[in-house]
Amino acid sequence: MKKILVTGGLGYIGSHTVVELQKSGYQVLIIDNLSNSSLDVLEGITNISKIPPTFERLDLRFKADVSDFFKRNSDIEGIIHFAASKAVGESVENPLLYYENNLNTLIYLLQECNTYGIENFIFSSSCTVYGEPDSLPITEDAPVKAATSPYGNTKQISEEILKDTCSVSSLKAIALRYFNPIGAHETLEIGELPAGVPQNLVPFITQTAAGLRKELSVFGNDYPTEDGSCIRDYIHVVDLAKAHVIAMQRLLSKKNETQFEVFNLGTGRGSSVLEVVNSFEKTTGEKLNYKIVARRPGDVISVYADTKKANEVLGWKAEKTMEDALKSAWKWEQKVRGI
Ligand code: NAD
Ligand code: UD1
Repeated sequence: MKKILVTGGLGYIGSHTVVELQKSGYQVLIIDNLSNSSLDVLEGITNISKIPPTFERLDLRFKADVSDFFKRNSDIEGIIHFAASKAVGESVENPLLYYENNLNTLIYLLQECNTYGIENFIFSSSCTVYGEPDSLPITEDAPVKAATSPYGNTKQISEEILKDTCSVSSLKAIALRYFNPIGAHETLEIGELPAGVPQNLVPFITQTAAGLRKELSVFGNDYPTEDGSCIRDYIHVVDLAKAHVIAMQRLLSKKNETQFEVFNLGTGRGSSVLEVVNSFEKTTGEKLNYKIVARRPGDVISVYADTKKANEVLGWKAEKTMEDALKSAWKWEQKVRGI
């Protein structure tokens, strides 16, 4: 059994990926510092797969601890690196936290890869690297635009760090540029559980429907789109998780074409905020309180993926619909709140 290290494996996307890796026969080791997750997730994962993953509570910002971990686990064959801070607004207020947590952790891991000859590395990037696209759908060779937040900047710099490291070592890396992950596992054992007030659209919707928030604010209806609200590419988190297994298999079987590769992970379909709201109401039968408010600073108008490269080169395609994702997100919210 090949050993794969998943950093941030108790987080939202990481936990779903751990389950898919286990289903595909990998032995999974998780590192997480629980800064944005809890130990309950470990139980959720085990309930689904019936295989308890090895877990170590470790903060990747501490280089000595990272070195010590690899000394004890030098037989790791691949790393999927999810651990990072991800709140865009917080990154504007506290940039050093973001540069430290998102860049130092990557550097320390890559140094260990060098030391122990670990060659297979998957990185969580984001469609945020494209900024406001010049044309849609957006392809991987579209220019990377100046970042609008320290968070976005860490994703751009991380990709540069990976590219440069691949060019002088045996490291092979894939950066997966996620569009907007939503939804929960069908078993409702794991899902998205943001700390505090959700910043992202779908958890805000489900918390509003659950009565935790008074109303959803729709940020702007005066954009140059059909209904005036922003357009995004919402992808089911389980589809996203499956792409990581395929990407890891690609590296392990040396099918990669270049040492550093980039793939968009989206559905290829753009949906407006108001479409998401309507779809939520229709699929769940819940009435949602919402009001239109001013635009949110920093939001791009419209972004959705060209999925051709991921479809043809990775052989991966998003299969679930937005309705599947919204339904599971709502059921998960109900379960968590005991509704
Ligand atoms: P998440 O916060 O749910 O998961 C991240 C996990 O990493 C958490 O469990 C957290 O406790 C852990 N962590 C953070 N810093 C750590 C450290 N120093 N040491 C050890 N563990 C640490 O986030 P997510 O939504 O699952 O996102 C995973 C990755 O995907 C992140 O890199 C994020 O930037 C990226 N991403 C997310 C989205 C999204 O919309 N969710 C979109 C694009 C990219
Ligand atoms: C944001 C980040 C992105 C990051 C991702 C995951 C920006 C510009 N982008 O993506 O870098 O990878 O989160 O954390 O911040 N909306 C509302 N009301 C709400 C919440 C959101 O109308 O209460 C709208 C937004 O204006 C946007 C859409 O819903 O049009 C999606 O927003 P969100 O879920 O925050 O994701 P992004 O902004 O696309």
